[in-house]
Amino acid sequence: MSCSMRSLTEDDNRYLKSFQLFLERSSEHQCMQDFIHIALPDILASIGRGKDYLNVMGVGSGAGEIDLQMLTELHLKHPAVTIHNQVVEPSAQQLHMYKVLVSQNANLDFIKFTWNKMTATEFQKQWNQNNCKEKMDFIHMIQVLYYVKDPGATVSFYQSLLDKNGKLLIILVSGESGWGKLWRTFRMELCNTEISQYVTSGDIKTYLDSKAVCYQSFELPSQMDITECFIEGDAKGELLLDFLTEVVDFSSSAPPELKAGVLDLLRHPDCSKEVEGRVIFNNTLEGLVVGGGGTGEVDQPSTLT
Ligand SMILES: C[S@@+](CC[C@H](N)C(=O)[O-])C[C@H]1O[C@@H](n2cnc3c(N)ncnc32)[C@H](O)[C@@H]1O
Repeated sequence: MSCSMRSLTEDDNRYLKSFQLFLERSSEHQCMQDFIHIALPDILASIGRGKDYLNVMGVGSGAGEIDLQMLTELHLKHPAVTIHNQVVEPSAQQLHMYKVLVSQNANLDFIKFTWNKMTATEFQKQWNQNNCKEKMDFIHMIQVLYYVKDPGATVSFYQSLLDKNGKLLIILVSGESGWGKLWRTFRMELCNTEISQYVTSGDIKTYLDSKAVCYQSFELPSQMDITECFIEGDAKGELLLDFLTEVVDFSSSAPPELKAGVLDLLRHPDCSKEVEGRVIFNNTLEGLVVGGGGTGEVDQPSTLT
């Protein structure tokens, strides 16, 4: 990374603004909702098995929109059960938005929330220091492993918290998405932080395979309209470019050759297609579901269409 470029993770306000714009311009949450309503119910039905309470943990929950939908789906499968939901989220702003969302929703008495304003790694340290032995029934890490130093170790730690029938859900951009192409091409120029940042589901599958950990895989097709990125000086286009590159003010801080290279690749057919004059970026995600048991056969991938 050129010394004039700063990681977006160092600027909480700009990160939040660019993430919210990304949600507006993409079908990110829509494809997750499809997954939650079509594939997740069966997965959730298999956890717990007769327990009268369920331990759930959201790591990097953001403002909680997706979490609440999963919790509602979990309640439909286990209507008589109380849910203890641990939220692990370092951003005060996001945590506040999550609490507001909970306070506006009258139908959540079946959930007891515990708020942990901290990173996944801080939570892990605290857990170990307190010698906690509690087991989890459902843990999810949705679009969050980019922000930890060692994604493999993080997956292994959180998997180790699962009860026998517990499930860990990981969602990340697919290695085959536009993100995968962009990051494989420019990772060295863009990144110099300690955290993994440009990790894809492909990297996690390689890690799980190396540990002989079985998982189910779900493709979540999704798109993102990045047309504004190609309008010089467009404030929203610049914000989206920050989110794509994970660099603050990428447009003004990147060396000109790097900026030109990134813009060229973004509209290349490897990353995007043109539809009615708009540039539509391939934002396909992949969901991986790991069980508490650990090793065994790798399940066949499924596609949500
Ligand atoms: C891309 S957002 C995803 C939010 C939510 N899971 C969703 O899909 O809508 C990433 C979230 O991870 C949080 N985060 C950043 N670094 C983290 C870390 N080291 N550990 C846990 N969460 C982190 C951010 O604050 C943000 O809320």
